Formats: sequence, structure tokens, C-alpha cells
Amino acid sequence: MSLSGKVALVTGSTGGIGLAIAERCVALGLDVVVSSRTPRKVKEVAERLSDVGPGRAVGIACDVRDADACAALVAGAVARLGRLDVLVNNAGVGHMKPVHKMSLDEWKDQIETNLGAVFYCSRAAVPHLARSGDGWIINIGSLASRNSFAGGAGYNASKFGLRGMTEAMMLDLRFEGIRVSIVMPGSVQTEFGQGSAAGKGWALQAEDVALAVTQLLEFPPRALVSRVEMRPTRPEK
Ligand SMILES: NC(=O)c1ccc[n+]([C@@H]2O[C@H](COP(=O)([O-])OP(=O)(O)OC[C@H]3O[C@@H](n4cnc5c(N)ncnc54)[C@H](OP(=O)(O)O)[C@@H]3O)[C@@H](O)[C@H]2O)c1
Repeated sequence: MSLSGKVALVTGSTGGIGLAIAERCVALGLDVVVSSRTPRKVKEVAERLSDVGPGRAVGIACDVRDADACAALVAGAVARLGRLDVLVNNAGVGHMKPVHKMSLDEWKDQIETNLGAVFYCSRAAVPHLARSGDGWIINIGSLASRNSFAGGAGYNASKFGLRGMTEAMMLDLRFEGIRVSIVMPGSVQTEFGQGSAAGKGWALQAEDVALAVTQLLEFPPRALVSRVEMRPTRPEK
């Protein structure tokens, strides 16, 4: 199925998994909105991806913890690229510590970035995705959306919540012509969580997650893969 000419918005796409998703989308001919909190990085990445093509990339800076900024991000995407077919809610943070060692700011940062933002961006995007006729919302969860771990109180809360929210959205939005899916990776080598997967040669690469995301988009409209779990094949024993 040709994805050329479709428009994708990827939150948190100046690094890690989001960047790999944006790169792969552009390579497949989608036009992409690159976004994160850092205007300099947003501009650099959008220019670099546009130079590579064949899809176009435009950059719009946005802190997804701000509901009004998310609405402006979606409106800006449609104003700049004319339509919206795919929203990838990828931006995420991890503050891995037990509740009694977690600050209020860390708790709020995690819940707002990993969960609140998905509501803010999706709410703004749904009318545009419905007009697409083949709209997608893909949320980047985690194996931590299903498995609790020590030090994961806040992260697990946000990612378990995201899985529940995604499944409910899927049940609602299928009737608006929008497919909703959650992709749940295990350890991926990125800067995430102070680079906690650094040195883990066995970990997934961001490109692996990007492949899963774009493969979802290639399913025919009648088929909805609503949850993808992916893990390193051979983790340390
Ligand atoms: N790495 C893993 O092992 C792993 C495993 C499973 C799931 N995940 C999930 O995958 C997603 C991406 O993680 P990653 O590993 O690629 O992380 P990363 O390398 O730290 O990249 C995070 C991206 O999100 C942006 N970002 C952070 N806070 C933001 C905010 N408030 N508003 C807008 N953008 C924001 C960052 O840019 P700025 O700082 O410039 O804003 C950056 O572009 C997250 O949802 C994470 O939970 C990661």
C-alpha cells in the first residue's frame, strides 16, 4: 500500500525512537512534522530529513505537556502540510525511582508527557484524521505498559494508563475511520532514562521500532493490528 503523500506528525522526533520513525516515514514518501521542545533541534532535523526525502519534513517546536501547545501543533501541521493522516504519540520520559524518592515535579513530568499529552494531541487530531479516510494514531507504549518493575511506579503508572487509554480509543475511533494501535518495545538503545540501555549490545535499536510502526501503516484498511509487543531476541540471562 502506498504511503506516499500522506502526512504524519511524530511527537518527540528530534532523537531516539521518534527520530527513527520520522526518518523512515520520510524515506517511504510521507510528509512529516518533526517536533520536540527544542527549536534548534527541530529545525536541524526537519532540514536534514527534507534534504534526504523523498517526503518533505517541516519542524514545529512543542512541549507536549501543554494542551494549548498540542492543539497549535496539530493546527500547524495541517496548515503547513494540508492534511493529517498519522499521529504518532512518541514523546516520553522516565524517572525511575520509588515513590518516596520521586519529586512531585518528576511525577507530574512523567504523567503529563507520557499520558496527558496523548490525550491533548489525539483530541486535537481526531477531526483531521477522520477526514483522512485512513487515519492512524500510534502510541508508543512499552513492555512497562504490562510488566511492573522496582523503581517503575511513575513510569508504569503512565504506560499502563496509556495501554488502557489506547485500547479504549481503538474501540471508539474505529467507527470514525481511525485505526489506533500501541507499540510496546522492551529496551531500546537511545538517550532515554539517562541512557539506561547504553552498552546493551543486545537491546533493540530505534530503527526496529520504526519498522514496526510503518509496517502497521501498510496493513489494508480492513485490518487493525491494535497491539505490538517487541523485545530483544537475546537479552542478558
Ligand atoms: N528507550 C527505551 O528503552 C524505550 C523502551 C520502551 C518504550 N520507550 C518509549 O519510547 C518513546 C521514545 O523514547 P526514546 O527512547 O526515543 O527517548 P529519547 O531518546 O529520550 O527521546 C525522547 C524525545 O522526546 C522529546 N521530548 C521529551 N519530552 C518532551 C516534551 N515534554 N515535549 C515534547 N517532546 C519531548 C525529546 O526531545 P526534547 O528533549 O528536545 O524535547 C526527544 O526528541 C517514549 O515514549 C518511551 O517511553 C522507550
